Amino acid sequence: MDIVRSFEDYIKQYQQSIDNPETFWADVAGDFHWRKKWDKVLEWDFHKPEVQWFVGGKLNITENCLDRHLPERANQTAIIWEPNDPSEEPRNITYQELFHEVCRVANMLKAQGVQKGDKVCIYMPMIPEVAFAMLACARIGAVHSVVFAGFSSRSLIDRINDAGCKLVLTTDGSYRGDKIINLKAIVDEALESCPSVERVLIKKRTGSKVVMKANRDVWWDEAIKNMPDVCAAEEMDAEDLLFILYTSGSTGKPKGMVHTIGGYMVYTNFTFRTVFQYQEGQVYWCTADVGWITGHSYIVYGPLSAGATTLMFEGVPSWPDMGRFWHVAEKHRVNIFYTAPTAIRSLEKAPLSFVKQYDLHNLKVLGTVGEPINEEAWHWYHEHIGKGKCPIVDTWWQTETGGFMISPIAHITKLKPAFASFPLPGVQPVIMDEKRQEVTTSPGEGRLTIGFPWPGMARTIYGDHQRFRETYFSTFPGKYFTGDGCRRDAEGYYRITGRVDDVIIVSGHNLGTAEIESAVDEHSAVCETAVVGYPHDVKGQGIYAYVICYDRPHEEEKLRHEIRELVAKIIGPIAKPDKIQFVSGLPKTRSGKIMRRILRKVAEGNTTDLGDVTTLLDPSVVEEIKAGAL
Ligand code: PRX
Repeated sequence: MDIVRSFEDYIKQYQQSIDNPETFWADVAGDFHWRKKWDKVLEWDFHKPEVQWFVGGKLNITENCLDRHLPERANQTAIIWEPNDPSEEPRNITYQELFHEVCRVANMLKAQGVQKGDKVCIYMPMIPEVAFAMLACARIGAVHSVVFAGFSSRSLIDRINDAGCKLVLTTDGSYRGDKIINLKAIVDEALESCPSVERVLIKKRTGSKVVMKANRDVWWDEAIKNMPDVCAAEEMDAEDLLFILYTSGSTGKPKGMVHTIGGYMVYTNFTFRTVFQYQEGQVYWCTADVGWITGHSYIVYGPLSAGATTLMFEGVPSWPDMGRFWHVAEKHRVNIFYTAPTAIRSLEKAPLSFVKQYDLHNLKVLGTVGEPINEEAWHWYHEHIGKGKCPIVDTWWQTETGGFMISPIAHITKLKPAFASFPLPGVQPVIMDEKRQEVTTSPGEGRLTIGFPWPGMARTIYGDHQRFRETYFSTFPGKYFTGDGCRRDAEGYYRITGRVDDVIIVSGHNLGTAEIESAVDEHSAVCETAVVGYPHDVKGQGIYAYVICYDRPHEEEKLRHEIRELVAKIIGPIAKPDKIQFVSGLPKTRSGKIMRRILRKVAEGNTTDLGDVTTLLDPSVVEEIKAGAL
């Protein structure tokens, strides 16, 4: 099906997708290679909830990302890899090479005993092998669970055990600017508590010293030697699992979102091509890590299924200096650049000379994702990076949605800074008010729900369908609840205002306050904790922890340091609290519920307008909290 090329096309396509969703998505899906066509486009019931797309269809996603491109683009670059250290050689991997690399890894996995349906944990830095590994799993019908390589061993344990992974793919170490992180040691520590893991394959990257465990650990480079570079693709059902990816929720336990093959493939491909208006031959760069959904959908599956050239960057924006992104963009003649507001805000603080010394004239489209972008950052990005001529696509979506939901279409949608603008074809947003009534007016404001299925949506939480139902389909029965608030203006533009639940977004990373609270509570001096988000210049939201100790701490700074380190160890450095206030009590209602509204206000620096505190069990704690605010 043709991608929209004008605003009139968009209106027409959107209307078709609403009037006749099945015909619409069948048209989109018709462009792919199916071993067997589906019997039915869609089966759904949001009350159960149950959603199936392309029912009965048979395919392999890697045939669509690799084999299908070979006749036309065997020698075109599929992946450009830019290493952490700019003095190291980048790699250009053509579609032909990628095909062979994926097949070799697939054969290696098979030789190590991985079978269709097995779960494979990928805990690796941003090197091309991480993409080979994901695709290799898909090639043989194994289910990948990529865990962000910044997570701690404790987080790794939870994720490996929840999915019951049989094999772990990792590296000796990873680079992060001028630091080396010893990934293998983190894996070793985790695996003491992961009985399901039989094998670990270790790709050499940093040359760090590693301890190899007999009968379990194998060097990747040894295991892959002599592996054939062709591997038949397993025939999969459209609704078979492609991957599990964990995201934070409002309880301490992360949710393993399940994405299935057919719908996810169709959706990421369609949204990639539509939103970025990708043109043949362009170089596209998404700066996310593959450990997040953005990396899955818009570094790997979306671009590769579209036959695009996708850039993978191993490093960080601030090393060797604050001009690194722009240096990479110039070096590889990047045309489409997709990043997060938090990165923009931190780079905006550096002198403009870091931008000006690079030639960015190849840039045609810019994008953002992960949190609401503030207008100041939007304008800086537009003016200094896009030189006033590149549209910014502010893409709103979630791990759960698989792909873009509300977003401008590059060069087509008239932009409004900080608005995600309009729903993409097939997406039916519905705003609900506090009385659970639909808000039909524009302007209007409330909670954002989606009233109809789309192919990229997660099908369940791995091993816990009940939680899936409760989290997403029970607040507004019959609708998918996003957890976000939003506003629709008089022209119908959507603006996402942020989470309305207990999830905070720190530097674009989704973290559950409950998860951080339980990590802080593990300190032997801590009795109880309440965590809230507060506005932060660079990170978007910072983490503010109110901590009750058994005894009044003597050395507050030392204890703060210990708590931060503990959280880094349990969850990962991204979850370290920015501010820790020691308190003797928390504002609780008579039924024992913490009034987070009050804590949020104090954390925001607002101590005068706290609203009604008379329902509190002990209103005096509020005075103490206000007096000690950081
Ligand atoms: O609150 C929204 C925010 O990020 C949440 C989803 O986080 P996660 O599942 O980690 O996925 C991030 C990458 C897709 C959403 O519920 N969010 C994401 N994009 C935007 C956004 N908020 C405002 N504007 C966006 N463009």
